Amino acid sequence: MVDASRTPTRPLALVTGASSGIGSELARVAARDGYDLLLVARRRDRLEALADELSRDHGVDTRVATADLATPNGVEEVERALDGAPVEVLVNNAGFGGRGRFAVERPLADDLAMVQLNVASLVHLTGVVLPGMVERRSGGILNVASTAGYAPGPLQAVYYATKAFVKSFSEALTEECRGTGVRVTALCPGPVDTEFASVAGIEGTSLMRAPLIKVSAEKVAESGWRALRRGRAVVVPGIPLRLAMQSLRLTPRRVAARIAERSQAAPRS
Ligand SMILES: NC(=O)c1ccc[n+]([C@@H]2O[C@H](COP(=O)([O-])OP(=O)(O)OC[C@H]3O[C@@H](n4cnc5c(N)ncnc54)[C@H](OP(=O)(O)O)[C@@H]3O)[C@@H](O)[C@H]2O)c1
Repeated sequence: MVDASRTPTRPLALVTGASSGIGSELARVAARDGYDLLLVARRRDRLEALADELSRDHGVDTRVATADLATPNGVEEVERALDGAPVEVLVNNAGFGGRGRFAVERPLADDLAMVQLNVASLVHLTGVVLPGMVERRSGGILNVASTAGYAPGPLQAVYYATKAFVKSFSEALTEECRGTGVRVTALCPGPVDTEFASVAGIEGTSLMRAPLIKVSAEKVAESGWRALRRGRAVVVPGIPLRLAMQSLRLTPRRVAARIAERSQAAPRS
């Protein structure tokens, strides 16, 4: 539990999905910049190892909370851990994807859990912390979307749709929060080598093998954190990927959908 009565010498950042990949790197960047942390995910051992590292290397106060945010009660666990402590930065990063044709290959329960994690819990946590930020006229929310949010994604239909939601929701909040002292940024990475591809079942696909548009988790985190500090609504990390997203604007949606499908087709063995 974060001590709500503590005299806050450092602002608090809450990072979901901090046990791996982009979330771990975002927690490292926040600690380096002097934030105390509440790290959230399901794997406690990973969170505790990261908390020890951040406290040791940066002298910040780091707590962990285990919560399954793919269930409707997950956010309540996080609220219990917060115990009313004000959050200065919320990083909504936890998320997963899953490959397969929606009608015949995807277990419906898995896709509904994905919507709960990638969308509903993200909205829920935002709803828990944003009113306090607006009242204090200070704070920031970094929502990890994806370039998947720019086009329909056959073979990951639900995942791409969740990321389109996150991007749209974030951009709308950016406008609503203008003049309140609160910033909202959508971070839209392309392929990044983390545990994401194996969880989603897209390892070895041409999407995950595209060297030009690949960016490391460290660089993605730096890019997202910098964009939040600068108050940018959307950031796509890496120049080649930004150019690719620009050209997608001129591409008909049906063509974009076919490109997305081909890029996620099972690799030939
Ligand atoms: N890697 C990519 O190519 C890529 C590209 C674009 C966007 N993204 C987005 O980046 C974000 C981070 O992904 P990543 O690449 O860093 O993948 P990752 O290494 O698989 O990390 C995912 C994180 O989410 C947490 N998580 C998963 N299910 C959860 C649940 N039910 N409840 C709470 N936490 C949960 C995981 O922790 P536990 O398993 O310990 O719970 C882990 O910390 C995701 O939103 C993803 O959609 C990734």
